[in-house]
Amino acid sequence: MTLVDTDPRATAPAPALDRDVPAAVRTTGLTKSYGGRTVVDALDVEVPAGVVSGFVGPNGAGKTTTIRMLLGLVRPTSGTGTVLGEPLSHPGRYLGGVGAMIEGPAFTPALSGRDNLLVLARAGGLPTARVAKVLDRVGLGARGDDAFRSYSLGMKQRLGIAAALLPEPRLLVLDEPTNGLDPAGIAQMRELLASFRDEGMTVLVSSHLLAEVEQVADHLVMIRQGRLVFQGTVADLVATQHPRIVLRTERPEDADVLADVAAALDWAASAAAGEVTVPLAAGTPDAEAFARAAELNRRAHGAGVVLTRLELERPTLEDAFFSLTGPGSGDVR
Ligand SMILES: Nc1ncnc2c1ncn2[C@@H]1O[C@H](COP(=O)(O)OP(=O)(O)OP(=O)(O)O)[C@@H](O)[C@H]1O
Ligand SMILES: [Mg+2]
Repeated sequence: MTLVDTDPRATAPAPALDRDVPAAVRTTGLTKSYGGRTVVDALDVEVPAGVVSGFVGPNGAGKTTTIRMLLGLVRPTSGTGTVLGEPLSHPGRYLGGVGAMIEGPAFTPALSGRDNLLVLARAGGLPTARVAKVLDRVGLGARGDDAFRSYSLGMKQRLGIAAALLPEPRLLVLDEPTNGLDPAGIAQMRELLASFRDEGMTVLVSSHLLAEVEQVADHLVMIRQGRLVFQGTVADLVATQHPRIVLRTERPEDADVLADVAAALDWAASAAAGEVTVPLAAGTPDAEAFARAAELNRRAHGAGVVLTRLELERPTLEDAFFSLTGPGSGDVR
């Protein structure tokens, strides 16, 4: 796991991923500048093989640019990397094993889904027998002969994924496949991605919303303004966050007394509006946090302070995402 910009004590245990299998994607110092503006900034990323990896960051963070560099569509300004063990400098060596869909697939509206795929298969020198298989695989078998223009957004995205599956890829790279989908469409997409992983593919899927990928992602790569802010498992991400004990005193003026009680124990505490917050170190186990809460309760009682609230708060994944990537878009800077 790599964590940048946060408490060094936050180092979590190694992710439960198979370290013996070579990484599907590895980059070192991968950088892209446009006209002197650095949009991807020295990314050191490792996506293990055989996982669904969520590539998340706000709009403009540099996800699509990074993906384009991985696919040999954009030349890095500096840095190196490998995809499926082959160097980024020689995309021809690995692209045969990679299927990709970037920012909404382009298809011919008047042609059926099937005919669109047939065109792509022929152009790519791929067996046309794959077309029926991949249509079925994404659940479009029954609608394959309808014109592309009659497809819903979810069907269009799934046809894009079918196209990416044509070469029987080992690595599937999908740029925002859930963008614009309704909750049912997002859920379907998650199931599809999980099934690809279960078949042994590595899936790198980008999204600007953690919530869209967190349930399916075994692994996360988070970027903000072109820089890596986190990579590791979802459990690692949660472990980077600081839990806290929140107490409310019956009499607001007792909050300061309680903060002093905590300070006497050498625990940092802040009092505001009748509430006292005691932040704990990232990764503090529940048992220790509860023991501290109990100790605070005892000491408060000893000091004649009556509590009306005593809670252990753990940040949600969304809190973690925002604390690492910031609340807004990365476009403006
Ligand atoms: N060809 C280009 N020329 C100049 N600037 C570019 C170019 N391509 C991308 N950028 C800039 O790079 C930054 C990152 O863009 P990118 O599309 O990689 O972000 P993203 O994370 O995919 O965002 P989104 O979630 O909106 O798709 C943006 O500020 C964008 O304007
Ligand atoms: Mg993008």
